[in-house]
Amino acid sequence: MGRRAAKITASYIRNHPYASLGFATGGTMKTYFAELVREHKQYGLDLSAVRATFNLDEYYPMKSDDIHSYHWEMYHCLFDHVNIDKRNIHILDGSTDNPKVQCDEFEKEIKLHGGIDLQVLGIGRPPYPHIGFNERGSSFDSPTRLVELTEETRKANARFFDYKIDKVPTHALTMGLATIMEAQNILVLACGQIKADSARLAFEDPITEEVPASILQMHPNVTVVADKDAASKLEMLSLALLH
Ligand code: F6R
Repeated sequence: MGRRAAKITASYIRNHPYASLGFATGGTMKTYFAELVREHKQYGLDLSAVRATFNLDEYYPMKSDDIHSYHWEMYHCLFDHVNIDKRNIHILDGSTDNPKVQCDEFEKEIKLHGGIDLQVLGIGRPPYPHIGFNERGSSFDSPTRLVELTEETRKANARFFDYKIDKVPTHALTMGLATIMEAQNILVLACGQIKADSARLAFEDPITEEVPASILQMHPNVTVVADKDAASKLEMLSLALLH
């Protein structure tokens, strides 16, 4: 799954070297980033002209040099191993004193760079799968903002914090649903049995703000890359096997 998604991304970048890219983090992205690094190192994928990158989210509060930060994860798993110009990287700053200003500036930066051409997404766990950290009940009009994480999300992510939920931050800064929907193309990655219900809820069940990921059904250019387990409850299995 990671390799397939990396191939799609690489081919997009080869066709659009100046693209603006949106990245996600989390467990699902690990093999994807490793494969993207391989595309660069083994197959000569050139990322030097990428005009901007924007990350979906960051914990709050969180220092960027903390090994639990998405900032750290992005550099460690991808940015330090490819030739993206570091000046073009945009990650929300989880140590800001003023989240509102930080989020508004992030939105401005996206616009200033002509929007996001390809946004990569993971998907949260059922029964209310999130995208970014847009949790259950997030308005479909939501911009980039400070949000409170649900107990379910903190439980799911405790595995990255020595399995101690108390260590998982209670809040995060996240790209909004409206912001995500403005991306030209969206690539969703899903793997594992735990995501089977998430995929069905997101792509086949009714569209509702209760299920933030269901907004993707209204986007004109979404590609889903899922492994067999994650796709196992999709009626339109071909959707997941596309490309
Ligand atoms: C992370 C993010 C989240 C994750 C989702 C799935 O930047 O935006 O929406 O994509 O929680 O996480 P994993 O892949 O760890 O299951």
